[in-house]
Amino acid sequence: MTGDDLRINPSILAADFVNMQAELARIATADFVHVDVMDNHFVPNLTFGPQMVERIQATSPVPLDVHLMITDPDRWAPGYAEIGAASVTFHLEAASDPVALARRLRQIGARAGVAVKPATPVDGLFDVLDEFDQILVMTVEPGFGGQSFMADQMPKLARLSDEARRRGSQVWLQVDGGIAESTIAQAAEAGADTFVAGSAVFGADDPGQAIAALRGVAAAHRH
Ligand code: DX5
Ligand code: ZN
Repeated sequence: MTGDDLRINPSILAADFVNMQAELARIATADFVHVDVMDNHFVPNLTFGPQMVERIQATSPVPLDVHLMITDPDRWAPGYAEIGAASVTFHLEAASDPVALARRLRQIGARAGVAVKPATPVDGLFDVLDEFDQILVMTVEPGFGGQSFMADQMPKLARLSDEARRRGSQVWLQVDGGIAESTIAQAAEAGADTFVAGSAVFGADDPGQAIAALRGVAAAHRH
């Protein structure tokens, strides 16, 4: 992986929700903006739905990486692709037919992503890797920003990375939760190429500098 092959996606969960336009302008050097949709059912927290995501899509200087922490994504995920999100990631634990849903998302024109919670194995994805454009290995329990990075997810990520390489897959491997300058190296070494960071970016005085610093450390520790 060179510096060009990795992505830093700030999570607006850590942004000021009533100043969204200004907050989005602060991350213009990011690759994507990570948009956490939570329904207070799949996770014990609530953010926003398609109407807000549509406004973010219209306002953001960078493409949208939508992370759906919702029940029944088979029903709701296509709507986010229709809004124009560059990628739509749903949870494996919540989808009744993950491959069919991924195909539908691609058909609409989005990158199709599937996410796994820390306790969920990834082995079942090995034979269908090509059905997805990105796989998100959660490095916290989904629901809240500002939690500690779970280093115990690195063996799972490394196995996924080895398997993807062995099969010649182009799938992006994403990590989300507790990513900061102090933890991103481990994730890069384990094979991640797409890094979500909420508090580490929006909590910084200069988010652009934080993005550059994360990018630098990840590039230096690339797989
Ligand atoms: C957690 C969300 C994350 C969260 C990450 O459920 O999916 O995207 O915003 O926040 P940090 O980087 O603060 O752990
Ligand atoms: Zn997320």
